[in-house]
Amino acid sequence: MTMKQPRGRQEPRRMGNAAMVVTMLVSLCVLTYIKARYYSNPFPKPEEELEVVEVDEDYDSTRYKLSGPIGEEDLDPSRPTCYNTSKRSERCAAVGDIRVDGNHSKIYINPLSREWKTKPYARLHDPVAMDDVREFTLVPFGGGGGSPNHTTVVPPLCTRNHSVPGFLFSSGGFAGNLYHDYADVLVPLFASTHHFGGEVHFLLADIKDWWADKFKPLFRQLSRYDVIDVNNDQEVHCFPRIVIGSTFHRAMGIDASRTPGGETVADFKRLLRCAFRLERAVASRSGAPRRKDRPRLLIISRKSSRRFVNERAMARAAAAARFDVRIAEPDNHTDMPNFARLVNSADVMMGVHGAGLTNMVFLPSRAVLVQVVPFGGLEWLTRVTFKDPARDMDVTYMEYNVSLEESSLRDLYPEDHFYLKHPYDVHKKGWDAIKRVYLDKQNVRLNLTRFTRTLEQARDLLPSP
Ligand SMILES: *[C@@H]1O[C@H](CO)[C@@H](O)[C@H](O)[C@H]1NC(C)=O
Ligand SMILES: *[C@@H]1O[C@H](CO)[C@@H](O)[C@H](O)[C@H]1NC(C)=O
Ligand SMILES: *[C@@H]1O[C@H](CO)[C@@H](O)[C@H](O)[C@H]1NC(C)=O
Ligand SMILES: *[C@@H]1O[C@H](CO)[C@@H](O)[C@H](O)[C@H]1NC(C)=O
Ligand SMILES: *[C@@H]1O[C@H](CO)[C@@H](O)[C@H](O)[C@H]1NC(C)=O
Ligand SMILES: *[C@@H]1O[C@H](CO)[C@@H](O)[C@H](O)[C@H]1NC(C)=O
Ligand SMILES: *[C@@H]1O[C@H](CO)[C@@H](O)[C@H](O)[C@H]1NC(C)=O
Repeated sequence: MTMKQPRGRQEPRRMGNAAMVVTMLVSLCVLTYIKARYYSNPFPKPEEELEVVEVDEDYDSTRYKLSGPIGEEDLDPSRPTCYNTSKRSERCAAVGDIRVDGNHSKIYINPLSREWKTKPYARLHDPVAMDDVREFTLVPFGGGGGSPNHTTVVPPLCTRNHSVPGFLFSSGGFAGNLYHDYADVLVPLFASTHHFGGEVHFLLADIKDWWADKFKPLFRQLSRYDVIDVNNDQEVHCFPRIVIGSTFHRAMGIDASRTPGGETVADFKRLLRCAFRLERAVASRSGAPRRKDRPRLLIISRKSSRRFVNERAMARAAAAARFDVRIAEPDNHTDMPNFARLVNSADVMMGVHGAGLTNMVFLPSRAVLVQVVPFGGLEWLTRVTFKDPARDMDVTYMEYNVSLEESSLRDLYPEDHFYLKHPYDVHKKGWDAIKRVYLDKQNVRLNLTRFTRTLEQARDLLPSP
């Protein structure tokens, strides 16, 4: 079954790139600023709103008539060059004489039976995202594909010859928003290319320098070669084989039976740990070694909407409950490697629903993620974005449903207001209404008794050392 959720326009989003993490060492009441390097940011963008739509499994093997893993079957002549691997992703694969003229968005291929057009970003069902993705044309030449008129096409001469396969993908669309970075680009990329064992050349379209810099350590783990910025490259890159577009399984998830090497999200996390030199593989009830038997709580802070109004009081309560507390807000200036290490040092991570929770990819195994669900019947949204993915990530999931008493909406509307009484009817009006009423205008003031009890439960869920 496929259930569409209402969605709306992409909002201009706030986050960009670069580097500053503010952590607050509450137990000592000392503020520590971890400053790291700033990236230049020609395209200040995202990191705020999740643009989420899907509720059900995107991958439906009967519908897409695919059996077995996708990745090593490119030589099968019965397979069309391009095909959909899910309703979100189109994949094109070819072997032969392949010439990529990135500057003109053309890929000349011999043999090829017909011309194809494709956009290599795993959000095919979403026209708003796809608008921001460059389209590539696969052009037959040389007549090898059997269509006689293709012999008239004159392909450009190779200026760079490569002996390994090329893999073309895009960081357009909603990339730049951390959730979409992982859900639409990085997890699918891992599932589609890990089996190459580094012997693959990445061609990245719609590149933003700051974005590519941010994930460079990860690309390094997947490919031994420098990423080619295909939009701004005057070379004609030639390959013996090419794959255009990643295979998509499910949001931030991987179905091991569909990956060529049986890879899972656990393997993806392991790779991230290597990429960002994260030390901790497993969380612990007594925290990291030498931490005085205190698990670390990382509170993901937000400044604009869905803010913890009583954040400092929360931190004090958590410290009193014998947690080592850190508060951090990933924002425009967040330095990935530093932030990744901070998240990896946590045993419990808590935050109000938002892209910042995507940082759970860096949590050690069996850490606890507490998603604070704002008032407004948002379970479907919180489920697909973080609850379901947490399972794949080997992160223990808890949620904290904000009651009306804890919500700032209570101050905005009279007690018997439609928005407070009938959230599901508001949902029927569509994504814009949900976003406006429950996501953009709501802050939360957690009840410290409930909060402390939640932390105790989280502690009990952590593995004992
Ligand atoms: C972050 O980005 C937003 C929008 O791009 C901008 O308005 C804001 O000033 C930036 N914040 C900082 C601290 O640079
Ligand atoms: C993949 O799905 C899209 C949207 O449903 C469709 O337009 C496209 O033609 C499909 N691609 C292939 C190769 O079948
Ligand atoms: C090709 O590259 C030139 C020089 O970098 C650039 O000005 C032009 O816009 C590019 N063309 C396309 C179609 O991207
Ligand atoms: C090549 O053949 C196809 C059909 O076989 C036709 O649609 C197309 O227009 C032809 N292209 C050229 C350049 O003649
Ligand atoms: C690439 O390989 C082709 C075919 O072997 C050869 O003709 C061409 O000169 C090579 N180009 C470069 C830049 O090495
Ligand atoms: C939060 O609310 C949802 C939907 O009402 C419910 O399924 C879930 O069990 C609640 N979680 C907690 C921890 O109360
Ligand atoms: C906080 O929660 C506790 C337990 O659910 C409840 O007894 C108490 O009344 C709440 N406090 C406030 C101020 O709402």
